[in-house]
Amino acid sequence: MIRIILLGPPGAGKGTQSVKLAQQLSLPHISTGDLLRQNVKDGTELGKEAKDYMNKGQLVPDELVAQMLVKRFGMDDVKGGFILDGYPRNINQAKTLDGILKDKKMAIDMVIYLDTSDVVIIQRLSGRLVCSSCAANFHKTNMPPKVSGVCDLCKGKLYQRTDDKEETIKNRIVVYKNEVAALIKYYQDSNKLHSLNADGDAGIVLNKIMELAKENDPLKV
Ligand code: AP5
Repeated sequence: MIRIILLGPPGAGKGTQSVKLAQQLSLPHISTGDLLRQNVKDGTELGKEAKDYMNKGQLVPDELVAQMLVKRFGMDDVKGGFILDGYPRNINQAKTLDGILKDKKMAIDMVIYLDTSDVVIIQRLSGRLVCSSCAANFHKTNMPPKVSGVCDLCKGKLYQRTDDKEETIKNRIVVYKNEVAALIKYYQDSNKLHSLNADGDAGIVLNKIMELAKENDPLKV
């Protein structure tokens, strides 16, 4: 039972690592990016409002994301812990999250900062492929699917995210860098932050995260 935030730039591997962690720890994976993309796909009011921000690589307004998150944290499966990916993105969101969790008598146990260089970010995002059906992540060269254009897991069609264009990637990195220092300090001050170099092999990064998760599990005796 552990509540983990994965923090890091676009392309750090938050989604990739969250999926593996969620499997290994039997916890739900909550990705605000995935939830927003599902809303866009479903054509909800939230999706309609969020779409332009996402396509430009800007943050969706805090209140919209907060409403979505309150709804998600109202579900029963989060009671035994969770992996949170893509939230918070700024101090306001970090405080909102603390408030949402406090209302449910919960708190974050550990924040993992996946430190990644700009060169690696651009290589990863420009080659990323995502399943249109189950949202699984692949990469043209780093993690290619067994059959070109087809998801290994559900046989869905793979596509390139609209925000993975070079101009938008650059904007996402700028937006990220404007906010991250304050967030890092916020979680350092509460002794929850653990930094990892995430430029390397995904399996090695996962092993390091698993070690930290074991050390920081509040139920550890
Ligand atoms: P979101 O979907 O959260 O995007 P992001 O934060 O930019 O992160 P990414 O999903 O691009 O990267 P990732 O770190 O998950 O990397 P991945 O594992 O896929 O958000 C999208 C948009 O939604 C935002 O721009 C914003 O508009 C909006 N939004 C979301 N949350 C919001 C919030 N809280 N507030 C406001 N707006 C919000 O890996 C990338 C690629 O690299 C993959 O192809 C993968 O196969 C490969 N890869 C991963 N790890 C490795 C490795 N170790 N070695 C080699 N290849 C690797």
